[in-house]
Amino acid sequence: MMFVRNKKTVVVGIVLIALITLIAWRLVRPMNIFVVSEAFERPVSTADMHPSLQSLSAKSCAGCHQEIYQEWSTSIHSQAWTDPYFQVDWVFDGKPQVCKNCHIPLDRQQEHKVVGFSDDEKWQPILEPNPAFDAQLQHEGVTCVACHLRNGKIIGTFGSGDAAHPVEKIANSNEVCFKCHVVGGNRWDTFFRFPPCGTVAEISNTPGATKDTPPVAASSTVGRDAAKPGDASPDCIQCHMPLTERPLVAGGQVRTVRKHLWRGGHDPEMVKQGLETALREAPAPSPGKRSFTLTLTNTGAAHYLPTGTPDRHLTATIRLVDQSGAVLREDDHVMKRSIMWRPFIVDLRDTRLPRWQPRVFQFDVDLRRNPTAVAVEAQVQYHLLDEKRRRRIGYENKEPIAYDVFRARIALNREKTN
Ligand code: HEC
Ligand code: HEC
Ligand code: HEC
Ligand code: HEC
Ligand code: HEC
Repeated sequence: MMFVRNKKTVVVGIVLIALITLIAWRLVRPMNIFVVSEAFERPVSTADMHPSLQSLSAKSCAGCHQEIYQEWSTSIHSQAWTDPYFQVDWVFDGKPQVCKNCHIPLDRQQEHKVVGFSDDEKWQPILEPNPAFDAQLQHEGVTCVACHLRNGKIIGTFGSGDAAHPVEKIANSNEVCFKCHVVGGNRWDTFFRFPPCGTVAEISNTPGATKDTPPVAASSTVGRDAAKPGDASPDCIQCHMPLTERPLVAGGQVRTVRKHLWRGGHDPEMVKQGLETALREAPAPSPGKRSFTLTLTNTGAAHYLPTGTPDRHLTATIRLVDQSGAVLREDDHVMKRSIMWRPFIVDLRDTRLPRWQPRVFQFDVDLRRNPTAVAVEAQVQYHLLDEKRRRRIGYENKEPIAYDVFRARIALNREKTN
């Protein structure tokens, strides 16, 4: 009996010590927030680039594809390296090499060559100086060739024989996006599949969507009209590269082509297109009381809204105000992906908006308790990142990190209720 109890104590003791050691180790060990997968463990080789494309620079493509170049220049892809938020965040994280493989993916954009790895997780690449490094090209971030190069040829949907360079026809242009935007990995100590930068992870939760899902029928509309309930295919380009009619090169054949815009969280109009919002009065719950609802529906994004890095979130505020605009009462709601980082990475809660599922916030007003109230106001804001995080990493933003996507006001017409 004594012996058994001792044995039990020893076992429990060992388990406890192991657990404490594990948690202590998780607390001090630098966290690898994502799994480095084969898709982006190394930069893209440009060694087999066809000689007709002497330069890889977007500027050289601009020589013939002027309009596309202009559009790309306004997009965040062209700033994937120079983006001040990325730069501050990258330095804060200790400048890991792996970040470059999506933000400046071409080998010639990187100062170093990756010749191997000194750890199994591939977070510590073995580096050698890269004689082909091109600082100018580095500044182009996700440049044309980052998406268009495959087997030394330029990939495109037409398979044009008239191009000034070899062309390889691809069936589904969405494949291009998946490489950087829809990646994941499993590991025993991360309890969810957390892709780098958290980009559109939730898309794989869309019923019927796989990497091989073909694009849905072409459509000329963007945002909420682009698809109907039931259209599950994550056709990225349908919404992020709107259609237009024009030649690919000056004087060329007019074709149905796609604008290279890729608008997202940095563009208020894009976010508004995806979001249907309404402030309405609901039937009075009891005499002397009034009830209001703020309804938010993701009608125009195939993924969650907001999507992207876990920094992105929406806030909805409903206020009761008096004649002078002073706030008498306020309800705050946050739509966000909340993550516990230590000692383990765990997805705690996800309150973002899945497609087609209305989120209703109710706001009741008791006119006897607030006799000076004159109106109910609602405000919905999109946040690129949290103010707390901005301060923590020392990012001095030049552009606002949050903006309004909806504002409404309903006056409390007193006669009606008296
Ligand atoms: C983020 C990825 C990406 C980048 C960067 C990019 N493209 Fe594209 N491009 C695409 C995709 C995807 C298509 C195919 C769209 C479709 O299915 O019609 C395309 C199509 C084209 C076409 C054919 C016309 C069309 O719209 O189908 C040309 C020409 C082209 N790109 C040139 C360029 C040039 C020049 C640059 C740089 C200034 C560039 N691209 C940058 C992804 C990209
Ligand atoms: C000397 C002019 C010239 C330059 C420079 C040039 N292109 Fe082109 N490109 C063309 C022509 C011409 C076509 C075919 C147009 C057509 O078929 O209507 C074409 C077609 C394309 C297509 C469509 C292929 C298809 O069939 O779907 C893509 C994509 C493309 N170019 C990308 C690029 C990229 C990226 C660069 C820079 C690395 C570049 N081009 C540089 C002339 C050029
Ligand atoms: C080589 C990697 C790579 C590929 C391929 C790629 N992207 Fe991106 N994309 C990025 C990076 C990196 C950013 C963020 C840049 C930044 O803000 O620093 C980004 C940003 C975006 C944004 C804007 C997010 C915002 O903050 O406003 C959209 C939308 C987007 N990509 C869509 C696409 C689509 C659609 C495709 C396929 C045609 C595609 N991307 C292909 C790397 C890539
Ligand atoms: C039905 C239209 C639609 C489709 C399909 C769609 N998106 Fe979006 N996407 C949107 C809208 C609207 C927004 C702006 C609101 C938001 O951030 O969710 C957006 C935002 C984004 C952003 C910006 C995130 C950020 O941090 O600012 C990225 C990146 C993105 N989408 C990538 C993709 C990729 C990759 C696919 C394909 C797998 C895709 N989208 C498919 C409509 C769409
Ligand atoms: C697998 C490709 C990939 C890797 C690796 C990667 N990123 Fe990103 N990153 C993206 C994409 C795609 C986006 C667009 C984000 C979105 O949807 O919000 C992005 C966006 C960002 C943003 C937001 C930029 C903005 O303007 O708001 C920051 C910051 C960032 N990345 C930092 C990093 C850092 C630091 C690392 C390395 C630890 C890294 N990224 C590694 C693909 C990647």
